[in-house]
Order: sequence, then C-alpha cells, then structure tokens
Amino acid sequence: MEALRVVPAIHYFDTFKEFNEAFQLGKRDLLVTNQWMYDPYVKPLGIELNVIFQEKFGSGEPSDEMIDAMAAEMKKYDFDRIVAFGGGTIVDICKVLSLRVPERSVDLFTGAVKPEKLHHLVVVPTTCGTGSEVTNVAIAELKSLHTKKGLAVEETYADEAVLVPESLQGLPDYVFATSSIDALIHAIESYLSPKASPFTEMYSRKAMEMIMEGYKKILEKGNTKENRAPYLKEFALASNYAGIAFGNAGCAAVHALSYSIGGAFHVPHGEANYQFFTEVFKMYMRKAPEGKIAEANRIFAEMLGCGVENVYEELDRFLGQLIGKKKLREYGMKEEQIEEFTKSTIENQQRLLKNNYVFLTEEEIREIFAALY
Ligand SMILES: [Fe+2]
Repeated sequence: MEALRVVPAIHYFDTFKEFNEAFQLGKRDLLVTNQWMYDPYVKPLGIELNVIFQEKFGSGEPSDEMIDAMAAEMKKYDFDRIVAFGGGTIVDICKVLSLRVPERSVDLFTGAVKPEKLHHLVVVPTTCGTGSEVTNVAIAELKSLHTKKGLAVEETYADEAVLVPESLQGLPDYVFATSSIDALIHAIESYLSPKASPFTEMYSRKAMEMIMEGYKKILEKGNTKENRAPYLKEFALASNYAGIAFGNAGCAAVHALSYSIGGAFHVPHGEANYQFFTEVFKMYMRKAPEGKIAEANRIFAEMLGCGVENVYEELDRFLGQLIGKKKLREYGMKEEQIEEFTKSTIENQQRLLKNNYVFLTEEEIREIFAALY
C-alpha cells in the first residue's frame, strides 16, 4: 500500500512579508482573499497585483454559484498564478478556479466535465483547521442539485502550501475554536482509520499532542487573541500535520454524520464535528474497545491527567471550554430527522464511512443521532 503522499511543496514563513520576498508576488498573480486579510498583510507591502475579494461573491461555505461568479470575474485578469490567501472557503474555491472552469462549475463536481489544470496554485491558509492546503478535496454546496459534494482529483491539489503563522493573529475566538477542533478531529479520525500507516500515524499523533498542549496553555488564561499569540506557530503546523494525515488516511464517521446538521442548519463545520466527536467514539468503544482506540484513549487521558475510563467526559469538559456542547434539537433538528439523517448519511457519505475504525450499522448510526438529539 502507498504509505504517504504529500503533493504540494510545503513552505514556512513567520510573516507574510517574508513569504512575499520569497515568492515575489506581482502583476502575473491573482490574489484571492478577503479585504480584512488584504488590509493588514498585503496592502502595506505596496505590491502591484490582481486582487479578487471573495466576500463580494457571497458569505458562508463555498457554493457552485459563488464559483461561477468568481470564474466570470477572473476572466478580466491576465495572470499565471492564483494565490489563495484565506480560510477554507477561499482555499476550496481556488482549487476549482485553478482548473478550466466550464460555464457551470457544477459539471466538474458531477463528473460531466473532466478536470483540466490551468493555473499554478499557491495556498496560504489563514485558519488553523481544514488542512485543505495539502489535500485535494474541494467541497461545495451545489445549489442546483440541493446537495454538498466534494471534488477530489489529482488536478485539485495545490502546487505550493505556505504556512504563515502571523496570518492567524486576527482569528476571532470562535473561528479559532472551531477550526482547531476540526484539525484535532482530522488527527484522531485519521489515526483510527484502517488506511492509516506508520507515517500518517506519526503526523496524527503529533497533531493531537500539539493541539491539546496548545489548548492547555491557552485555556489557563482564557481563549483570547493575546493568549493565543505565542502558540500560533504550533497550531499552524498541527493543522497542516493533521491535513497530511487525513489527506492520506481519510476522515470517518464524525465528519460523515456531522454533514447532516452542517448542511441542514448551516452549523459551521468544526462546531458540527465537535457535537458528534465523543458520541461516535463511545459507539466505537462499545464495539471494539481493544486495539487502536485504547491507545488513543491513553494518549488523551495522559494529556488530560485523567483515567481512561472517563476520558470522553473529560474531553467534553475540556473542549467545552472552547465550544458549547448542544443538543441537535437546539439547532432546529426535529425528531423525525433522526431517521432522515441516518438514511442520508448512509446514502451519501460512504466515502467517509468506509474509513470508520469499525463498521457501524444503520441502527448504530441512528442510535448516535438519537443520543445527541
Ligand atoms: Fe474537517
């Protein structure tokens, strides 16, 4: 089996200025970013380059409509490289924009049009979660088809992934919490995946340790910009390590189940994942308590300073300091949706469910939804 593959070259710079010195941004580049990132980091450098502000094309997670509108805007510029400087939405959109975009981008997601790479893609993530800079997955809501779908082909890999911890400085507290918990879940789901290799395990474990240790230090004083500042490098690296791990070994049931409430009630991805995390793990424990999950529990118990028997309660308590644990009904879920979401998870999320630590039956998935409802 292939044990590890990292496609983009990975670069690291402390500041955006150093990144610019090395990459020499200029007229042949198209920068896709948000005004709130452009103003503090790019504008002071006085670089002449083409810029598109993503927020002009819609808010929230990527959609085919957003991609179509941005692809049309892009035609006004003449450029070689696309530089994606932003969070998951910008990164995923730019993965698609680096291809030849047909009139309706949905055709790329359905497979009606074959992907063809046109532009060199440089990704500079500004959140510490998705790991999307090293994976080939681009996820978008396909409005015309009323569904969310991932495009994951060789052509959607970035050419260069650039880590700049300075660009995490302005993250709002809540975005820091949701994005870093997403990274923690990438690390743990890929660690337990049947596709894990000794290489991906190394990245998963290191990411788990760095994120949990970082949280401990931050939470001693409270989750604020000032208290996080000394640890941004750790979080930028950890989310990338977790991206390398799940880019190879995959994510699983936590992600699969969370897409239902993420899609139906527009719950941000990291928060939705967090609501399912420990409940999925309790189900795994019921089915196969020996083996790798016992190892994972030991790692977490050691970091939390608790016994393995109550590691999930402690994890919920610990992570609950960052994001509130809610019942799914608080997001607007109705009791009859337990059935609906169970069915749609089985139907649409096999890509993820096949990476489960142990096979989960339809009844067990229903039980998880019911316990959280
Ligand atoms: Fe995720």
